[in-house]
Amino acid sequence: MSLPEKGRDIEELLAEISRLKQDDLPVRGGKVTAYVYDTGRPEVHEAAARAYFEMLEVNTLDPTAFPSVVEMEKQVVGAVAELLGGGSGIFTSGGTESIMLAVKAARDARPVGGRPRMAVPVTAHPAFHKAAHYLGVAVDAVPVDPVTFRASVAAVEEAITEDTVLVVASAPSYPQGVVDPVAEIAAAASARGVLCHVDACVGGWLLPWLREAGARVPPFDLSVPGVTSLSCDLHKFGYSPKGASVVLFADPALRRKAYFASASWPGYTVINATVQSSKSAGPLGGAWATFQALGREGYLELGRATLAAARRLREGIAGIPGLRVLGDPESALVAFGSDEVDVFVLSDEARKRGWFLQPQLSYAGIPANIHITVTGVTLRGVEAMLEVIAESAEAARERGPAALPEGLVDLVAGLDLDALDDAAFGELAAAVGVDLGGSGQPEMAVVNAVLDALPADRREAVLIRFLSVIYA
Ligand SMILES: Cc1ncc(COP(=O)(O)O)c(C=O)c1O
Repeated sequence: MSLPEKGRDIEELLAEISRLKQDDLPVRGGKVTAYVYDTGRPEVHEAAARAYFEMLEVNTLDPTAFPSVVEMEKQVVGAVAELLGGGSGIFTSGGTESIMLAVKAARDARPVGGRPRMAVPVTAHPAFHKAAHYLGVAVDAVPVDPVTFRASVAAVEEAITEDTVLVVASAPSYPQGVVDPVAEIAAAASARGVLCHVDACVGGWLLPWLREAGARVPPFDLSVPGVTSLSCDLHKFGYSPKGASVVLFADPALRRKAYFASASWPGYTVINATVQSSKSAGPLGGAWATFQALGREGYLELGRATLAAARRLREGIAGIPGLRVLGDPESALVAFGSDEVDVFVLSDEARKRGWFLQPQLSYAGIPANIHITVTGVTLRGVEAMLEVIAESAEAARERGPAALPEGLVDLVAGLDLDALDDAAFGELAAAVGVDLGGSGQPEMAVVNAVLDALPADRREAVLIRFLSVIYA
């Protein structure tokens, strides 16, 4: 596409957007069990969209110019703090940015002699690795229990050094949906004078409602002694439009360490609470309106439906021959694996039937599996979902494991990626039957099987190349 010579009509543009989106997965309806969060109540999403649009052109860069931003942010952050044990917070664009700010605050709050380090369970989100990479912090990986998938407290204690600035626990971790032993980890950190961040990006706006609906949820928020910061994404179980998360700090002095100001240039004064500087207030408006449209009652009802769906799903999957649920998740995330069928083939089979079930690669001794995020809308389609899982498992059993061209894994493992340009990489992929330029919903089993057979650093190199090729 190039820039059109003359401006075009809006109706034509909307038609074109519809066409561009025709191969996208559906964002509503519950058949896509990752990436999107549907309440099943269109009027709530409509309220958020209208508020988003209303705030779209407001720039949060200067809070003195747009006081609406300060008021709205205080209300949203205040509601999150009220539910999650207090503290003062910042509205951010998502989990990654919330985590980035928590890591920055920890790094700057406690200068250490050597390179700052953080202890991160292997099941914690890669946002911690990204923050570490961007902020010059080293990561000490902490193993998890191979049966429960919860971080080992003894291993956290062992990982803490003189230079550790932050210890991480997840509530829950995404891969298996289990809550780390937050109280024990926070106590271990506090005993060594180290800060502790709870990544409740998924669980912050979910677990309290599940608990109220009858689930067994251990304490995980800022009321737990030793927890010094917490992230809670509103664009996940807050059901807000994307670009919405809150990071809370137990102490306003720690929050100040997340801020950034610069007067080192001759332009306007820069004071930023977030990584982004100029940014739309649309997501803040969307989050504010979603809170208002649902209220406590709405979230509790969604929590009840989510809990019922997650229980039914776990029980139903356990009854499908060859499949087993991993761990005993307290949350609404369910992962299942199999020793009998190739889960990557199963995922492709589900996709053919119109459902997206997210494949997860094996890592740190945890087998490859399928991940499902249960949301407010899942309950009404949970029996259909179970039928699709059962049918797809049967089809995957008949098809057998993904057939990899002989020598492909060794070839990819040994590739000198620096010596290949994007075009050559694309051709190589095509030669072994992987069409990186294809449209529609692709079969991914071969790609996943190859990635699964590679070590993590090799997977990363290949994935970066893949991104570069699809944006060529
Ligand atoms: C536990 C957890 N933390 C952090 C993140 C990162 O969130 P985002 O994609 O909003 O940056 C995710 C995303 O799935 C997550 O599951």
